[in-house]
Amino acid sequence: MNILFVTSEVFPLIKTGGLADVSYSLPKALEQLGHRVTVVIPGYRSVKSKLGVPDTRYVLQDGFLRQDIVLSEFRSSPLGLPLLLVESESLFDRDGGPYERGNGEAWADNADRFAQFCRVVVAWLTNQELEHEAYDVVHCNDWQTGLIPALLSLHHLPIKTVFTIHNLAYQGVFDRAVFQQLQLPEPWWHMDALEFYGNFSFLKAGIVYSDWVTTVSPTYADEILREPAACGMAGLLQHHQRKLVGILNGADYQVWDPKTDHHILFHYDSQNLEQKQKNKLDLQHITGLRLSKSAPLIGLVSRLVEQKGIDWVVAAIEATQGEKVQWVILGNGTPLYEQQLRALAQAHPKTIAVTIGYDEELAHRIEAGSDLFAMPSRYEPCGLNQIYSLRYGTLPIVRRTGGLADTVVDVDDASLEQGTATGFVFEEPEAQAFLATVMRAIGMYRKRKTWERIQQTAMAQRFDWEHSAQSYLELYEQE
Ligand code: ADP
Ligand code: GLC
Repeated sequence: MNILFVTSEVFPLIKTGGLADVSYSLPKALEQLGHRVTVVIPGYRSVKSKLGVPDTRYVLQDGFLRQDIVLSEFRSSPLGLPLLLVESESLFDRDGGPYERGNGEAWADNADRFAQFCRVVVAWLTNQELEHEAYDVVHCNDWQTGLIPALLSLHHLPIKTVFTIHNLAYQGVFDRAVFQQLQLPEPWWHMDALEFYGNFSFLKAGIVYSDWVTTVSPTYADEILREPAACGMAGLLQHHQRKLVGILNGADYQVWDPKTDHHILFHYDSQNLEQKQKNKLDLQHITGLRLSKSAPLIGLVSRLVEQKGIDWVVAAIEATQGEKVQWVILGNGTPLYEQQLRALAQAHPKTIAVTIGYDEELAHRIEAGSDLFAMPSRYEPCGLNQIYSLRYGTLPIVRRTGGLADTVVDVDDASLEQGTATGFVFEEPEAQAFLATVMRAIGMYRKRKTWERIQQTAMAQRFDWEHSAQSYLELYEQE
């Protein structure tokens, strides 16, 4: 099959979260299964600086497109796959993040930026004069690509459209004036089309007009049929339930494996866990924590936003100050959380280390050096860090929601006896429930033999991309 994979971020070129990891690994897995995949992303300034000269540059003729748009084709790229870059000086060539200025404020022209991105992709797929093999499938991801299935539906071509929701909370909602500025077809201002509670939504466009809607875990696919997880879209998703499928993300074990990880100092697997202890000492050393093999060390790497339960983490850090426990935190996001965490680290520098920012290498060293990994999300479509944590023998503490529920097995008498336990799971979306589970995990940490057994079970889990890529292929091929 010939597949066009459209995304607003892809590792290692541009990453704000898990979407970038998926956009790197899934196309690669599809290619390894014998298919041809081309990835399309916007030509952000920081991306262009990482690429050389394109093999071909196309100027697309389409009355709806900005004059300065160029589509650059790289037959090979750092992804190891062909890449198309939608370049526009006015839309993408600027400092700051892909969706926001540096200060967390969304770009005011986001609707225009991503509508043009979608129009270019559709022009590429439909313009007969551009020479490329016909595509069988266009796989779109998140609201930034939501207009593609809608715009493509106007052309009646035999191209299958798959739309993956990585996070339903981000819906690309804009008002009537924007709808008109974008010159979208007037009949689309309708509740069966793009209109959404008096505004319109890019995400809704993707849901309504694609052949298949997928999301990134089976449990999340079920949760979003009801409020509050559905974020106002329960009715819509129930209506389209027949074409809604949950496919669990995989992990890229070429990037995330403690046996080969080039970011960590001491490589290990489940047979030589004493090497993991050395990574722990290294992590304590580089973050200024007290060197201690015996103090349980809890890591966290995350966007610091409400979704991730960071307020519960702040409360748990405060509550565990009397305990012999250490925390190491890496992330950025909501200023209030950043400030609260910084203040805690300043007050207790030997037991709490906080790095505000984005740091790929430190993320790997936290996975390798921590004993436990905190991920108490209010909701979690899939989550990748708990999957990485399992591989690193760093037992995750998670809430039973979305992909966390699908990947972590709680430690209890039954799972210990069956040898299936891999982490610590709590139910209630409350600070107290998280704290109680942290205390339960610390208690278990003292039982060294049992702990090592759980680590070994965790490290033996496999969430391979090959398996998930097969599930996507089945959808691509189904009539
Ligand atoms: P989400 O996509 O909701 O942010 P995921 O768990 O799916 O959550 O993926 C997050 C990805 O982003 C992981 O690969 C994680 O390591 C990475 N990440 C998040 N914050 C940071 C950070 N501050 N520094 C480095 N990596 C980060
Ligand atoms: C989103 C979700 C996260 C998921 C990731 C990749 O950012 O919040 O749960 O793992 O996308 O699908």
